[in-house]
Amino acid sequence: MLSKRDNEILTRVDASEPLGRFLRRYWIPACVSSEIAEPGGKPVRVGLLGEKLVAFRSPDGTPGLIKEFCPHRGASLVYARNEPGGLRCLYHGWKMAADGAVVETPAEPANSKITRNLCHGNYPVREAGGVLWTYMGPRELEPPFPDFPWTHLPPEQLLVVKMYQDCNFLQGLEGDLDPAHPNYLHRDFSDEAKQRSWTGAGWQSISDLMFDGAPVIHCEETPHLMRVGAVRKTADPAQSYVRLTEWVAPFYTHIATGPHESALFKAWLPIDNERCFTFYIHYDPLKPINVSAIYENWGHYTEGPDFRTPHTLENMHLQDRVKMATINFSGVDGAAVQDRAVQESMGPIYDRTQEHLGTSDKAVIFYRRLVLRKIAEMDEGKPLPATDPGLDFSQRAASVFMPSDMSWRDARQWQEKVERERPLPDPVETSDAGAPR
Ligand code: FES
Ligand SMILES: [Fe+2]
Repeated sequence: MLSKRDNEILTRVDASEPLGRFLRRYWIPACVSSEIAEPGGKPVRVGLLGEKLVAFRSPDGTPGLIKEFCPHRGASLVYARNEPGGLRCLYHGWKMAADGAVVETPAEPANSKITRNLCHGNYPVREAGGVLWTYMGPRELEPPFPDFPWTHLPPEQLLVVKMYQDCNFLQGLEGDLDPAHPNYLHRDFSDEAKQRSWTGAGWQSISDLMFDGAPVIHCEETPHLMRVGAVRKTADPAQSYVRLTEWVAPFYTHIATGPHESALFKAWLPIDNERCFTFYIHYDPLKPINVSAIYENWGHYTEGPDFRTPHTLENMHLQDRVKMATINFSGVDGAAVQDRAVQESMGPIYDRTQEHLGTSDKAVIFYRRLVLRKIAEMDEGKPLPATDPGLDFSQRAASVFMPSDMSWRDARQWQEKVERERPLPDPVETSDAGAPR
């Protein structure tokens, strides 16, 4: 369990809080580029780390991210006219540029000095991989942009899904730090052949872990943040099944997926202390991904502006007790919704003074201690993980059977050997024409 103070430190995201300052030392997603696809189109509301912002694309195509409320008397700039050179507030016509400058105040006298020392807040943005990224920290401490290889893939090899979640981001993130839960929460009663028919969805390897529901968990710190290995027994004592997950500060993870599967990168974006968005980035560096299968398996199809699925706490995530007897362990459809159901069920911010952690929570404990230490080091002026300009960001997770006498740390290399030695599965029949992306 955590002390009340440590629970607060690890969950509170406002700029005045320790974690809020830590998160602001990184480039993070602000929204998906498709939300502001049209030059000169509608601005969109962006809630990020407890701040209210507005993203927009100027008529010349340049994206911007500025504070939501007009510096004059506070009208929301989500309503603004999107004009060349900035957003023009509807109320009295003030115009704010993407760099935060107040460039016109037409209701004021021509010689007015009202804007002389006035800067409307803005944050720098970059676009990569269908995502609008921002950096909200001190300008002098801006880290290198994290050059994740998936940001360079063509559209048919990449699917960016944004899903709203009704709880503090740490509840979601700790689910991804928890290698034991899939044996229970994600158990599917259908046969292995059906699960394997989901090739390309980054999910057929779920069937591989069901043999052993109490994996041995290993953790180690890395220059990016941390690495988690979960080693399971198999029917053959000479073989282990190893799942390897890589973590990149402040809240990114490469989820374990197997040989030739599409990969999954996730980001846990706090809107504020009690709400978050998950970004599921599905990608395949070598071939097109199967969009329909991904949506079917994960159940996370959403659309803007709210990016919610129909599953909520109020309707108990559409849990079906008949399905629980026959179809799957949870009675909830879709792995992403199964995760969200249990994480939202814990309340807006779980009181971790009440928990009882066990051996299976080793990675959760490791992460908490590590991030608390990194926050303390930040305050001592020490360098933070994943900010060294020499780092590369081409980590890869793994989900693979390997000889029991090998180290879990070699899982990625072993998986790449398996991929070289075994041909790709037959191409999947895709029925993606018109499928939502
Ligand atoms: S409130 Fe925006 S111009 Fe007056
Ligand atoms: Fe899960």
